[in-house]
Amino acid sequence: MLKGKNILLGVCGGIAAYKAVEVASSLRKKGAHVDVIMTDAATKFVTPLTFQEITGNPVSFSMWEKVHTWNVEHIALAKKADLILIAPATANIVGKIASGIADDMLSTTLMASTAPIFLAPAMNTNMYNNPIFQHNLKLLQDIAHYNIIPATTGHLACGNAGIGRFPDPADIIEIIEKFLGQKKDLIGKNILITAGGTREPIDPVRYIGNRSSGKMGYALAEEAARRGAKVTLISGQTSLTVSSSIELIKIETAKQMQQYVEEKFTDSDIIIMAAAVADYCVSKVAEQKIKKAANNFTINLVKNPDILLNLGNKKNPGQILVGFAAETQNLIEYAQEKLKRKNLDMIIANDVSKSNAGFNSDTNIVKIITKNKSVEDIPLMKKTTLAGIILDKIQVMENS
Ligand code: PMT
Repeated sequence: MLKGKNILLGVCGGIAAYKAVEVASSLRKKGAHVDVIMTDAATKFVTPLTFQEITGNPVSFSMWEKVHTWNVEHIALAKKADLILIAPATANIVGKIASGIADDMLSTTLMASTAPIFLAPAMNTNMYNNPIFQHNLKLLQDIAHYNIIPATTGHLACGNAGIGRFPDPADIIEIIEKFLGQKKDLIGKNILITAGGTREPIDPVRYIGNRSSGKMGYALAEEAARRGAKVTLISGQTSLTVSSSIELIKIETAKQMQQYVEEKFTDSDIIIMAAAVADYCVSKVAEQKIKKAANNFTINLVKNPDILLNLGNKKNPGQILVGFAAETQNLIEYAQEKLKRKNLDMIIANDVSKSNAGFNSDTNIVKIITKNKSVEDIPLMKKTTLAGIILDKIQVMENS
């Protein structure tokens, strides 16, 4: 994926600048041509000579000291780059870009570039959580060619532990490789995805919920959007965020989810129900907070609509309907029964009793079962990777 690509690495002044050396080295080992721009502050942490030796190219660090033979260096570098990676990205560079400031080699080059730009911020936790920094980051996230590689949580150079850590260089390379190798096979497709758990109110302060984090559905939505689909994501309450290209509709209850799903259904080519929808809701929601009284307390539950079953009953020819099955036993048997009863084209069965699969985990282990009775074992992997495999299988099904 990286072979022959021109990658421009922007290095800013933070302690993680030394880790950018590993990033540059990996990029080169994988066959990329790497140009480096360092900010003035970055040169206080690592010398330009280090990056020059690692990349085999001269390193730019000033508007006024020419290191290349090009006439206008920042324009030439901006035009040449297939992708720009800023790692580490400081609060300063993020603030500059968000404010439209171009006053040094790196910021002027970014201003002149139309290439995809990836930022890997790394800094002290309070700086990272600072609302001004978060506001600036969000501003960039909403601009189409900007991509944020979120900082991780852990021990920081300042002695604190928290969010703000520079991601593992191997993870940064993986994200970039994935982006460069991204298929655009879903252009022109409308995809409707549900994610997260529904909440069924008991009274104004209490609800019945489940452990779904939304990670599986959000991973599918992001992957589908990256591959060019127009994605609508109908989601239960989660703390996750999505790219601005995805239409996000947040709901609370199963009935609200059903309302929006039905609204979007006719225009959707592919529908994927990854949400954990409550099968029951409270028959009469109390208007006021229920006060503690007797030792025992009974709630009367009534059945919620089965959203997927209703969709299966009215599916149009050509539409692909995919469900998930969360099971703790008889995985294949129960999932196959749901596939048939709900008239699905495919069902993703996850054994949610496993600790690294199903609810609220970054990984999943599933079986992909199709209406022609094929069962494929998909081993433990990140939900983000699994999302790509599920969409590949749907594509094969659509084209067959
Ligand atoms: O969100 P995460 O933390 O990443 O966890 C992911 C997940 C475990 C929630 C996901 O992988 C998953 O399995 N989602 C489906 C959970 C579920 O409700 O399974 P089910 O077997 O009860 O339902 C079968 C299918 O019918 C599902 O596609 C569900 O969305 C749908 N359904 C269920 C009940 C209902 N009333 N209406 C529905 O449409």
